[in-house]
Amino acid sequence: MRIGNLVIDPPLILGPLAGLTDSPMRRLCRRMGASLVWTEMVSAEGTIRESQRTFEFLDFVEEERPIVFQLFGANPESVAEAARILDGMGPDVIDLNAGCPAKKVVKSGSGSALMRDPVLMQEVVRALIESTSRPVTVKIRSGWDEDSINAPDVAGFIEELGASAITIHPRTRAQSFSGTADWSLITEVKRSVRIPVIGNGDVRCADDAIRMIDTTGCDAVMIGRGAVGNPWIFREVRAAMTGAEPPPEPSLRERLETAIEQLDLMVEAKGVRRGVREMRKHIVAYLRGFHSASKLRAELLIIEDPEIVKEKIREALVELGASRETGAGGGETK
Ligand SMILES: Cc1cc2nc3c(=O)[nH]c(=O)nc-3n(C[C@H](O)[C@H](O)[C@H](O)COP(=O)(O)O)c2cc1C
Repeated sequence: MRIGNLVIDPPLILGPLAGLTDSPMRRLCRRMGASLVWTEMVSAEGTIRESQRTFEFLDFVEEERPIVFQLFGANPESVAEAARILDGMGPDVIDLNAGCPAKKVVKSGSGSALMRDPVLMQEVVRALIESTSRPVTVKIRSGWDEDSINAPDVAGFIEELGASAITIHPRTRAQSFSGTADWSLITEVKRSVRIPVIGNGDVRCADDAIRMIDTTGCDAVMIGRGAVGNPWIFREVRAAMTGAEPPPEPSLRERLETAIEQLDLMVEAKGVRRGVREMRKHIVAYLRGFHSASKLRAELLIIEDPEIVKEKIREALVELGASRETGAGGGETK
């Protein structure tokens, strides 16, 4: 799969998750086999204001490349100006968010609100493409609600305007993240354009990824929530895509050591206080399925010192390993 001149092989992508897919998570996912990673969305207005927080979301290290910066906005001039700033920061691709269902984003006409205003979406996409030399992609939903499903039409004009690829998360804005993604919309979008189509939604294992490609004909698979606390999903899907032997499931030791590594990276990137706090969501995800880890989970949600967090994790490793806990992920100590 290509986005402009960029070759994405195998076509396996870490998607954007606000508050989660920061530089440490992106690095781990690249190491495990993601071919391309996305930053979380940043607002055009915040970028223009040079808000420090906005630029923190875009901090990345070379090891993460190729990397996509994602922008949201509804004012074509602001999007153009923000795109010029992002362009200067050296991403490989710039993506427009036309899928976010959050009230505060939609209220300003951005994110999935663009799906119900195709004229404005065209202006925004055109402004973005004219303001950067990087390939531009757009991430869309099925439509605003069940009665206004328009992803295939929207994809058509996005292609005509000169975008290099389209990602479709086939839920409507009204669905938010509930129910299941309707992959038949991925098939329809794929039929309506010649540029590459990235399928997204509910991929939780290698079988899902292969099934998405086989049933929809999409050119690449994007994984979001399935990678939180589980960067190994990329190792698994990569093996399935390249015809390699399925890798072993991560052991309990590997899970917890990776959690510790991510904590170290987060503290390095964000400082102790924020690093530890923002790592909590990830730790909960790493411990998913380990029922007897509930005490550890509760403790880790209040500890502020990263060294104590690590100590607790190591203690738990011994305890959980001793009880040969297998949990949902089947992890055990070696
Ligand atoms: C907590 C959270 C944050 C998200 N943030 C973004 C975002 O910043 N930009 C975006 O385009 N999509 C965002 N999404 C949507 C995901 O990228 C993806 O389209 C959706 O979760 C479906 O894919 P999945 O089932 O693989 O997670 C977010 C989703 C969640 C649950």
